[in-house]
Amino acid sequence: MSVDVLLGLQWGDEGKGKVVDYLARKYDLVARFQGGPNAGHTLEFDGIKHVLHQIPSGIFHKEIKNIVGNGVVLDPVIFMNEIRKLDQFNIDLAAQLFLSKKAQLIIPTHRILDAAYEKAKGKNKIGSTLRGIGPTYQDKIARNGLRLGDIVSPNFEERYSRLQQRHLKTLSNYDFEFDLPAVEKDFFEAIEQMKDFNLVNSEYFINDYMSTGKTILAEGAQGSLLDIDFGSYPFVTSSTTTAAGACTGLGIAPANIGEVFGIFKAYCTRVGSGPFLTELFDEDGEQLRKTGNEFGATTGRPRRCGWLDLPALKYAVMINGVTQLFMMKADVLSGFDQIKVCTQYQDASGEVSNEMGFEQHGDDLKPVYVEMEGWKDVLDNVTSYDALPDQLHKYVDFIEEYVGVPINIVSVGPDREQTIIKQEMVIS
Ligand code: GDP
Ligand code: IMO
Ligand code: MG
Repeated sequence: MSVDVLLGLQWGDEGKGKVVDYLARKYDLVARFQGGPNAGHTLEFDGIKHVLHQIPSGIFHKEIKNIVGNGVVLDPVIFMNEIRKLDQFNIDLAAQLFLSKKAQLIIPTHRILDAAYEKAKGKNKIGSTLRGIGPTYQDKIARNGLRLGDIVSPNFEERYSRLQQRHLKTLSNYDFEFDLPAVEKDFFEAIEQMKDFNLVNSEYFINDYMSTGKTILAEGAQGSLLDIDFGSYPFVTSSTTTAAGACTGLGIAPANIGEVFGIFKAYCTRVGSGPFLTELFDEDGEQLRKTGNEFGATTGRPRRCGWLDLPALKYAVMINGVTQLFMMKADVLSGFDQIKVCTQYQDASGEVSNEMGFEQHGDDLKPVYVEMEGWKDVLDNVTSYDALPDQLHKYVDFIEEYVGVPINIVSVGPDREQTIIKQEMVIS
């Protein structure tokens, strides 16, 4: 069997959590492959909203298993907080949740370093979620990191101290105050609690699953435009958010990737710094933020909002080999007289292009828009594609035509049920 990959095609927060939860029942295993507690994946069903940061979004389906892959960076304190929030939902964690021994550990000084680096960057800051993501991946690549499997080793504390000393030495070069003992106590408590979880050799776990004919959905975090290689560097996260990340983050061979589900919002949002060509600073932007409730699921920060950027979407589809598109938050576009969609970029000399450049969106570029007629209908309770307004059908057709990949799902609300199938998706 193949592994299907689900990932975000923009700057994160496309609605991945909702769709993973929606699709999970079709799979035996949901596997998160990268990122860490910088992610905030929202799921809504039975009138309850859940936000998951590190636990895969299939966890509410009792019949399926979930695994945190080796490509993830894991904060034990945040993990245990998430586990406590699940307490009331009767989830059999021993049967349902598995953690890769090779996942890297975020230790308290990683978070402190993240904050110190950001402060030192001043107005050039990345707008990190300050969850220690960059410093932890930095240690992984520099071969200094600690992995989850290390917590049971007799010399764990000694290795922890060595890593911490390195961090403290670095921090002594920064004008940054912090209180380590308070956070360290919570860290070691969480480490003790984590020893009771299923710590596994995830690459065997996943490949054994595959070879016995079981189906796997790989859950991405962040979005392709935040990818360490293909995002708007340096305003990116520190992991491979693209389909390739599912191979390295889970131990799956490229030939075993099946469908690639690309999730995008019907418009664009971004949290943190970095170029965003179609960003709106007017009342249309305010309307998107308000109607879309565009405030970060992890940090609560207001998200920057703008029109859909089709060259960027097509770029993300190319990098990932997307086979099926899911368009989220179509309901948020209700109420506009006109909707704009960016189809080209124009530089200062007037020349147009539909390619992402070296800086992705250089300062001299302007978006070239096509204007489309909006609609006033409220979509929250629509259940069939045909019942959606004609103007929205035209919007969907236009995007499909431009990008060259079918949109199989149109989402019209945060709830699991508010999901419209345009065309039954193919799963591996
Ligand atoms: P993720 O990080 O990709 O999982 O996305 P987030 O959970 O950070 O942000 C998506 C937000 O949009 C959440 O608050 C979801 O509940 C919400 N959402 C998802 N799909 C829809 C939709 O179709 N319409 C509306 N209005 N909200 C949605
Ligand atoms: P999900 O999985 C949106 C952004 C941050 C910042 C940059 C680097 O919920 O879609 P980091 O903490 O990784 O060093 O931050 O990336 N960012 C996200 N934006 N959704 C996310 O995750 C994000 N994870 C990181 O805002 O600009
Ligand atoms: Mg999110």
